[in-house]
Amino acid sequence: MNGDYQTALLSRRRFLQAAVSIPCLTVLSGTVNWAEEVRAGVVEPTAEEAEAAIAAMIATSASNVTPERLAACETLQRSVDRLRAAEFGEYFRSNADEARKWEEERAILRYLNASFEKAIGEIKETTVPEGSVVLWHIYNMGYVVKTPTQAFAIDIKHRRAAELVPLIDFLLVTHKHGDHYTDAFCNAVAEAGKPVVTNFIDNEWKTPEEGREYVFGDCAIKTRLVDHNARLVKFVTTYEIDCGPKSGNFVIFHVGDACNVNQLKAEAPIDAFIPHLAVGLDVPKAVNETLKPKSTLLSHILELGHAIDQWRWSYAYGYDACKKCANDSVILPVWSEKFTYSR
Ligand SMILES: [Fe+2]
Ligand SMILES: [Fe+2]
Repeated sequence: MNGDYQTALLSRRRFLQAAVSIPCLTVLSGTVNWAEEVRAGVVEPTAEEAEAAIAAMIATSASNVTPERLAACETLQRSVDRLRAAEFGEYFRSNADEARKWEEERAILRYLNASFEKAIGEIKETTVPEGSVVLWHIYNMGYVVKTPTQAFAIDIKHRRAAELVPLIDFLLVTHKHGDHYTDAFCNAVAEAGKPVVTNFIDNEWKTPEEGREYVFGDCAIKTRLVDHNARLVKFVTTYEIDCGPKSGNFVIFHVGDACNVNQLKAEAPIDAFIPHLAVGLDVPKAVNETLKPKSTLLSHILELGHAIDQWRWSYAYGYDACKKCANDSVILPVWSEKFTYSR
């Protein structure tokens, strides 16, 4: 980070701190809420607290939520509750030097970077044996999936997403909301000559309103368009992905921000179901009555591009949503968490 930029950044932050009580700034700034308030009385974790929390997140598992993981979530949540969406936006657009500075100041950004570092190392090194599939949770509803024969990504949004381009064979995007894709990553994947499947980019892979089937390598994918809410009708693509015979025909059902349980249809039994935990979807009904997947990865917590008090669901909210499903197969993944499934 150069001196001029740092000075500008500090001025911006001081301005933000001074501006929190000026409501008209919300209007003046358009979609960016510069007046967003951080949670009162919340203190940024110390370097030692953050380091211990990040290590605990990596050492523990979503399948066995220990007091250690809960404590680590609580520590990192403090940093989440102090990071305004506009600040995350600045971090997201920053170059490597500027990003390092942000990460030094904010534990949650340090964790975001460290967790990506871990995931990308594992994605490179992991060889998936026959009869298995490996998933990494990246961020929000983003996943990388590796099968014995290929790798692909769904709903990736990350500052360092470009590093995934050489590691994947194709990209799936559920819908045109900025927490599920970026133009830069879609363009980079397309420029590498790899399919980018969306319902909004006009390329040869675009999903029409009536849905479409795709075959990439030995992966067979069925898509349907469903509602995000009453206004955004047929806005979200659901992906039923058969990961191929070498995987034991493992089936992933990623439904993005789908809101209506009655619209969720899968033809095969589902091994891993990936829904939004708070978009109005009746997840307990999907899990226990209609879809009955073998495992559910409840997603869409900690979207830092959303305001602190608006749609940025916390770890605690996520654990509560898991409990409401009353089903041990429903878990809450954290960033970079790796899941190995074997037949
Ligand atoms: Fe959305
Ligand atoms: Fe979303």
